[in-house]
Amino acid sequence: MKPSVRAASAADLEAVLAIERGWDTTPGWTRAHFDSELSNPRSRFVVAQVSGAVQGYAVFWTVPPEAQILDLAVSRASARKGIGRFLLGEVLALAKRAGLKKATLEVRSDNAPALSLYRAAGFAVVGVRPKFYNGVSDAVLMDRDLA
Ligand SMILES: CC(C)(COP(=O)(O)OP(=O)(O)OC[C@H]1O[C@@H](n2cnc3c(N)ncnc32)[C@H](O)[C@@H]1OP(=O)(O)O)[C@@H](O)C(=O)NCCC(=O)NCCS
Repeated sequence: MKPSVRAASAADLEAVLAIERGWDTTPGWTRAHFDSELSNPRSRFVVAQVSGAVQGYAVFWTVPPEAQILDLAVSRASARKGIGRFLLGEVLALAKRAGLKKATLEVRSDNAPALSLYRAAGFAVVGVRPKFYNGVSDAVLMDRDLA
């Protein structure tokens, strides 16, 4: 079934946290962190639903002219079914409608699925922070015009 994307609310946090904790490549945000994103005027926090169940989410900040994508994940059970691609597309469309000109993000150099997703969506590598994660993996900085 086709996913749909809508604004997140406090009622979604249980499902969002379960997804966040299911991967070691998410930022590992806590409930308090997601709560603060819900009330942060800079933050856009959306969830992807399939058949009424939350299967993914994304958080980006509007920092004109940029949309900074801070967290994006899909439940393990629903991975590799096109939800991540759909969610990212909706995030980019939302950012564009908000008048933002560029989307930026940071991803671990050993996160092959995410790197592949972002490259396929038109993101290009614009920088690297060596050994940024736990002194081991590089942080890869990517961006994409929204024109
Ligand atoms: C990255 C992530 C969001 C992808 O979501 P998804 O719903 O599984 O991805 P999709 O099914 O929409 O796939 C879209 C593209 O992503 C890439 N991709 C997804 N999973 C992949 C995998 N296991 N290996 C390689 N590429 C993968 C591919 O390019 C894929 O396109 P293709 O199917 O035509 O090859 C998901 O793996 C995830 O939640 N990971 C944990 C959280 C995370 O690392 N987020 C990014 C932090 S910056």
